[in-house]
Amino acid sequence: MKDVLDKLEERRGEARLGGGQRRIDAQHARGKLTARERIELLLDRGSFEEFDMFVQHRCADFGMESQHIPGDGVVTGWGTVNGRTVFVFSKDFTVFGGSLSGAHAAKITKIQDMALKARAPIIGLFDAGGARIQEGVDALGGYGEVFKRNVTASGVIPQISLIMGPCAGGDVYSPAMTDFIFMVKDTSYMFVTGPDVVKTVTNEVVTSEELGGASVHAVKSSVADGAYENDLEALLQMRRLIDFLPANNLDGVPELPSFDTLDRIDMSLDTLVPDNPNKPYDIKELILKTVDEGDFFEIQAKFAGNIVTGFARIEGRSVGIVANQPMVLAGVLDSDASRKAARFVRFCDAFSIPIVTFVDVPGFLPGTAQEYGGLIKHGAKLLFAYSQCTVPLVTIITRKAFGGAYDVMASKHIGGDINYAWPSAQIAVMGAKGAVEIIFRADIGDADKIAARTKEYEERFLSPFVAAERGYIDEVIMPHSTRRRVARALGLLRHKASETPWKKHDNIPL
Ligand code: HXC
Repeated sequence: MKDVLDKLEERRGEARLGGGQRRIDAQHARGKLTARERIELLLDRGSFEEFDMFVQHRCADFGMESQHIPGDGVVTGWGTVNGRTVFVFSKDFTVFGGSLSGAHAAKITKIQDMALKARAPIIGLFDAGGARIQEGVDALGGYGEVFKRNVTASGVIPQISLIMGPCAGGDVYSPAMTDFIFMVKDTSYMFVTGPDVVKTVTNEVVTSEELGGASVHAVKSSVADGAYENDLEALLQMRRLIDFLPANNLDGVPELPSFDTLDRIDMSLDTLVPDNPNKPYDIKELILKTVDEGDFFEIQAKFAGNIVTGFARIEGRSVGIVANQPMVLAGVLDSDASRKAARFVRFCDAFSIPIVTFVDVPGFLPGTAQEYGGLIKHGAKLLFAYSQCTVPLVTIITRKAFGGAYDVMASKHIGGDINYAWPSAQIAVMGAKGAVEIIFRADIGDADKIAARTKEYEERFLSPFVAAERGYIDEVIMPHSTRRRVARALGLLRHKASETPWKKHDNIPL
């Protein structure tokens, strides 16, 4: 028996070496960890259970019949993150560049099926060169099997992709169908076709970083939800993210011990909004002062900064935060901000995460660039997403809530459950200047009359009270009591039930 056990250890040792020490050293020299080292950091110590360590490809073309490396370029299994089950697959770049064969795909789909059966999140760590070129259609078919499962699991279990090296060809589309994509700065890139193909087809000369690095996807394209300095930081942040997420769509949000007090008031919030309505202030200050321990996990921090999205906790329970940011473009809603927030809102709703919305929005961004870019359709995405929510919606208007953007930002009319306004709120069709120039056009030459009309408009409409008189706002609250108000509202709504008519699925404007 000892020989048998020794043989097993030997085979395990061989599999753990992947593509061999030379390639492991090359991986380290590039500042990257190996597939197994990454899993060790992602999961609780000693919790990883590996599957299919000895799986090999079955390709007999182009000399592959003599090249067999146990595991075939992907490490798969499950373990725990702070005690909660997650499934994981980690592409091993040292084995055939992490490329996907039929056998490699079968390892991933096994893990996808198990994650769905166990109703637990799945995390994919990517560092790969796309379809295994020697395998041809077996590799393409393998990708199709993975994609189909991504879609089946969407909205049932959280799916997270972390890009930690090259991610090309077929490898980009599976992440694209997961809930979140994060990247590592300078060492990872994602593109459908690489720089060489780009040059051949379009004559454009571009580097990998310029084409698909974190500086592109976390800032310009919005393909990625965030980027980290190195492998270590990225993996530790994934552990933090998992702590905010439910295991599945029926499990409810995780509840962690809170070291913050429910009744904490913050007098500094009474002076957060400047006297001058055109002066910006940082909405993140309000977010951090409202949530437990100021702990906020921001999603897409570097893209469409005019809206802030992310996860936090109130009384130890996860919430999604959506907030207009007056510091960027005065917090206006444009196409990018609408798309960003709509996707976040839909994630929260799919996984029963209540949403707290902070509103200070001067309206939708006017202009040909926005209209030609489909602002109507993109704005409608956010309107649709909020209107469709069945999770608790708590809304606080801090200052401007103008025009259609008032309706969109989780107003009472589209399903807001508890809607509060600060005394500094201004709820109107538009700001005073624009309004007076339209409805008192005849007086435009008379400065005194215009000043009087502007004052009249401001006094009547630029306050929360017209909306409060009609019940569109449940209460005008003291800014310093925002945390307590939000926490009590969420407590009230904890068992919210709402019915929607049966349908196969909706037709959100894509
Ligand atoms: C087989 C591959 C491979 C692949 C890399 N390797 N990609 N083997 N199939 N797709 C192997 C290399 O031969 C090499 O083996 C090792 O992995 C490391 O690769 P290098 O090129 O030395 O590394 P590097 O210089 O870092 O470049 C990494 C890379 C490059 C940018 C990913 O390898 C590359 O461009 N690969 C091809 C990418 C691609 O076009 N894939 C197909 C996409 S089409 P040795 O033995 O020398 O170490 C696709 C279709 C699916 O995916 C569509 C579904 C919708």
